[in-house]
Amino acid sequence: MKVRVFDTSDEMGLAAAKLFAERIRSKPDIVLGLATGSTPVRMYDALVRVAKEDELDLSRVVTFNLDEYIGLRADHDQSYRYFMNEHLFDKISIPKENTHVPDGMASDLEAMCAAYEEAIEEAGGIDLQLLGIGGNGHIAFNEPGSGADSRTRVVDLTSETIRDNSRFFQDESEVPRQAVTMGIASIMEAQEIVLIADGAHKADAVAKAVEGDISSAVPVSFLQKHPNCIFLLEREAASRLSPGVLE
Ligand code: F6R
Repeated sequence: MKVRVFDTSDEMGLAAAKLFAERIRSKPDIVLGLATGSTPVRMYDALVRVAKEDELDLSRVVTFNLDEYIGLRADHDQSYRYFMNEHLFDKISIPKENTHVPDGMASDLEAMCAAYEEAIEEAGGIDLQLLGIGGNGHIAFNEPGSGADSRTRVVDLTSETIRDNSRFFQDESEVPRQAVTMGIASIMEAQEIVLIADGAHKADAVAKAVEGDISSAVPVSFLQKHPNCIFLLEREAASRLSPGVLE
């Protein structure tokens, strides 16, 4: 995997946005895999700016989000559908029907997960996947223990993830305990993967991802096997990497 390091989170976000804009320009009907959380906010802000400046045509872009909490309605301000509308979809010219986020309110969650995988396949598969990384090495909500063959499914969140994500809720007790997430295998099928990370609190997980053993104990480490994966890192998040791995 390739690794690039930036002095600031803004520079990291801009680099990711430019990469996405470039890919959209060369394939206007591109299928994007998208992430939520704190890290992509700067990237989405930059993408909105770049799309406006470059008059990027987003009308044929199709998107699939990685995950969604179970039990939060789309209009709940902590649902990932709400996040995506607020930070990206409402600010760019993408038709809403081209955007997909797993439905955490589905009455038959198993059927919804299978339909989500089918929809990705019918769209032609994901061309470019954006990822963040959890402090415990999760990608999407594939918590430690997730297998390389895992696909879109319902998962229990670890207490570490519930604690981490409680910063977005009034109280930790409000954080949903379960989520729907694309699996490791679903993610690994993307043609190209871009992982972004910033902050010293991510340094350990980033080092394990890039230089550690490939193991379900650190799900992000499976990315070492992907043929076209780049990590765009802010300096602090890269601080525990050996100098040899930097481009
Ligand atoms: C969210 C997701 C998660 C986050 C990760 C990092 O869609 O897939 O894996 O990327 O938890 O979150 P932040 O960016 O908030 O540190």
